[in-house]
Amino acid sequence: MRTIRVNASKEYDVIVSAGLLDSAGERIRAAADGDLAVIVTDNIIAGLYLSRLAVSLEDAGYRTCVFEIENGEASKNTQNYIRLLNFLAESGVTRSDIVVALGGGVVGDLAGFAAATYMRGVPYVQIPTTLLAAVDSSVGGKTAVDLPAGKNLAGAFYQPEIVICDHVLLGTLPERVFADGMAEVIKYGMIADPELFRMTDLEEIITRCITIKRDVVCEDEFETGVRKLLNFGHTVGHAVEKLSNYAISHGEAVAIGMVVETRAAVSDGWCGNECFDELIETLKRHNLPFESPYGTEALFAAMDSDKKRRGDTITLIFPQEVGKCLLCDVKVNELKRLIARGAG
Ligand code: GLY
Repeated sequence: MRTIRVNASKEYDVIVSAGLLDSAGERIRAAADGDLAVIVTDNIIAGLYLSRLAVSLEDAGYRTCVFEIENGEASKNTQNYIRLLNFLAESGVTRSDIVVALGGGVVGDLAGFAAATYMRGVPYVQIPTTLLAAVDSSVGGKTAVDLPAGKNLAGAFYQPEIVICDHVLLGTLPERVFADGMAEVIKYGMIADPELFRMTDLEEIITRCITIKRDVVCEDEFETGVRKLLNFGHTVGHAVEKLSNYAISHGEAVAIGMVVETRAAVSDGWCGNECFDELIETLKRHNLPFESPYGTEALFAAMDSDKKRRGDTITLIFPQEVGKCLLCDVKVNELKRLIARGAG
């Protein structure tokens, strides 16, 4: 078992191992006491893992109840957020109870945001069931729902009590959903660790990614500086997701975003062609897309509401080589030129 200690505004462990689900209750009990555990999950994950988690929580002395959403990004909306807040209130949840997110990024972000805001904050736990959630969204305390104007526009930084990553749960993922998470793994490879391009052991891959994320989050929890590196590929990626009405998944959009941003970096002399070629080759190996279906005008317009924009400046992340990226503040009119070069 690997334990990664996160020392942010709250200290907590991320534990990674095969077979953790059935002992989740006792591990949660050790990290966060409480009486009632509200499990937030989706209709697909409920059929696979809900009963085992509920038994484990009940064995550890929790009463349980379940809030279920439809699988998919469309569920990460304000209606479900309000429904969940009302569910917590109607279930009599207090600050000494817990919310347990069992699912991928959508479940984790929604449950985390409800936990952050219900009664000004109740404890919550993340049990990721997708690779994307395991390596990225379950760790570091970003919680949110989407607004019609853009992704993750309503949210909070709010750290969980514990993250329990049983990577056996990832074994049931459809190929496309697994590849989605690999896009974030490739992102970590690009910003910090070229070895990730070649590793094959899943527990080791997850542990490496979380360790990179932990180090970044501990230095800059609230994303005023170095945490922005984790957004490599996301500025363009979020625009692609939005333009596709979320038919292009987050990981696929980030893959396209990394290509556009890297091509722009090459064309402006920030990095060499070999970095671009290695990125493309790695994305291809994982069946991830690498060409934007949208042109410069559409991408630029969809970036309008990007929350990483400050006034007329936006921070882009440019690779210098595989394993090393730089933050680069660009003016909005400059951004359009870069996107035009990057979109190819
Ligand atoms: N997903 C990027 C971050 O957590 O900062």
